[in-house]
Amino acid sequence: MTNAAPRKPIRKAVFPVAGMGTRFLPATKAIPKEMLPVIDRPLIQYAVDEAREAGIEQLIFVTGRGKTAIVEHFDMAFELETTMKERDKTLEVLEPTRIQPGNLVTVRQQVPLGLGHAIWCARAIVGDEPFAIFLPDELMIANKGSTGCMKQMVEAYNEVGGNLISVLEVPEEEVSSYGVIAPGARHLGSGGALTEVTGLVEKPKREAAPSNLIISGRYILQPEVMRVLEGQGKGAGGEIQLTDAMARMIGQQPFHAVTFAGKRYDCGSKTGMVEATLALALEREDMAEDVRAIAMRLLGLS
Ligand code: G1P
Repeated sequence: MTNAAPRKPIRKAVFPVAGMGTRFLPATKAIPKEMLPVIDRPLIQYAVDEAREAGIEQLIFVTGRGKTAIVEHFDMAFELETTMKERDKTLEVLEPTRIQPGNLVTVRQQVPLGLGHAIWCARAIVGDEPFAIFLPDELMIANKGSTGCMKQMVEAYNEVGGNLISVLEVPEEEVSSYGVIAPGARHLGSGGALTEVTGLVEKPKREAAPSNLIISGRYILQPEVMRVLEGQGKGAGGEIQLTDAMARMIGQQPFHAVTFAGKRYDCGSKTGMVEATLALALEREDMAEDVRAIAMRLLGLS
């Protein structure tokens, strides 16, 4: 399904960050889980970097109580900057945290009713235009020389329009933790492999899963999804599920899955966090040698 009409650009992105992060307690008692660092950047920063690389201008954080550190992170720290300047330190390291006034908006979710509800809370700010969604727990790292996940998706969107989700394959025993797609025809777009989505189901039992292709936390959706979410009942886990709303849009608008050419780390889990930290450290020129030596020593290999 392709459509030659000019696409409205993807200017806005919603980041649902109201979750309590119970899997990382007690680390997340006073600090939002999105502020946990992978080396020297909090998780949320990686998602915001990916959004900006994709040309997104406005960041919409769906937050809750105890999450103000995320907003502080992207605010100007006047005292810090003054002190750093006085000490002749470069402010370059703060560059990724600078957001133009007006380009960061927050709404509160108030009650934890699920991902679909969190997205719906942003409806007035999203307005009548297509928008991106980032689940910051999913850390998507591009291969060297290649673009980030959302940029790849925006390129695909410019070709096929409609709705897009990023997907990846997981072992069959893991499908019940995710949203799963029923795949249709595959075709190769200029941005990579595209698969038509013919069905979507949230957290299916392994036997009932239509495939092992799971939704990996990046979406480009048409604003109609907000109307579908309006008044939608609870789904898997007793929560208002975004997947259920998207499923109802299949057949009415183009719906494609993009297989990200890059690596994904599940930073919603402790082992995923460790994996991401190690993998990124081993890619960094300033750390790789030392970290490799440490890992070898710990594994008894040196
Ligand atoms: C959410 C989505 C699910 C998706 C997953 C990716 O689930 O509902 O479709 O596959 O994120 O991480 P959650 O992890 O919030 O249970």
